[in-house]
Amino acid sequence: MPQALSASDPSALLDAVLKTNKKTSNPRLKAVMDAAIRHLHAFALEVDLTPDELHVGLEFLVAVGHATGPTKHEGILLADILGLATLTQLRGARHAVAAGGTEPALVGPFWRANQPLRPSGATISSPGTPGARLTVTGRVTDLKGDSIAGARVETWQASPKGLYENQDPEQEDMNLRGRFETDEQGRFSFISVRPAGYPVPVDGPCGELLAAQGRHTMRPAHLHFIAVAPGYRVLATQFFDTEDPHAYDDVVFGAVGSLLRRFEPDGANGYRLHVELKLERGETRVPHCPLP
Ligand SMILES: [Fe+2]
Repeated sequence: MPQALSASDPSALLDAVLKTNKKTSNPRLKAVMDAAIRHLHAFALEVDLTPDELHVGLEFLVAVGHATGPTKHEGILLADILGLATLTQLRGARHAVAAGGTEPALVGPFWRANQPLRPSGATISSPGTPGARLTVTGRVTDLKGDSIAGARVETWQASPKGLYENQDPEQEDMNLRGRFETDEQGRFSFISVRPAGYPVPVDGPCGELLAAQGRHTMRPAHLHFIAVAPGYRVLATQFFDTEDPHAYDDVVFGAVGSLLRRFEPDGANGYRLHVELKLERGETRVPHCPLP
């Protein structure tokens, strides 16, 4: 006859919970759930979590869900401000990066599906967008540096006011966003404006958490890229402006060293940026796009 659980023996409770996971047929799900159960129990024991505190935590997760909708994904923001998104991206790319691949950075909550396909060299900023001109050139290659022709490159960025177009009624739909196809030499280019850093959205539970932690809310200025080519792992990354005051203090920990770039002066009121997107061979799995 099994022993009744005892308040003085949390390990017996942990064993009982782990036992319920034994029949999970998907081996990866079983491994993830085993680890999640073990770590959650260890966490609760370490901080001596009370039932009231557990309730507060669960209400926080409920609020994250309620704050998520068609134009905002609070869950992604939570993973970002805890460093979890950056951790999984860096871990997932460690072999490619060791072999010379471009370091990834998180996709974040502002990538939109159906960004407009534009010809190489096109301007992605609509007329009236303020800010200094930024000319971006790029090349998509494999790890050996050989060109990848026909790759799909998507980019999106905040305006010089620090707002993405979907957050800002003063910007045209799909402003500062584009989709390009690389030429035979793997090249693409576009004209934009120098972006500004911006605060992550703080009108939801993640904003309350950041305030409670006494943290700032700023991301350094950056441009997002995703490169997709059949037969290669998808690269999602960002390039950051080293002159931004938060270049070394990104609220979501995405500004890793190799992605910091100086935006070189180009003419009287312009800058230029060159990016190399080096992809690793592998399965082409496009990440979830958070916005329609
Ligand atoms: Fe961003």
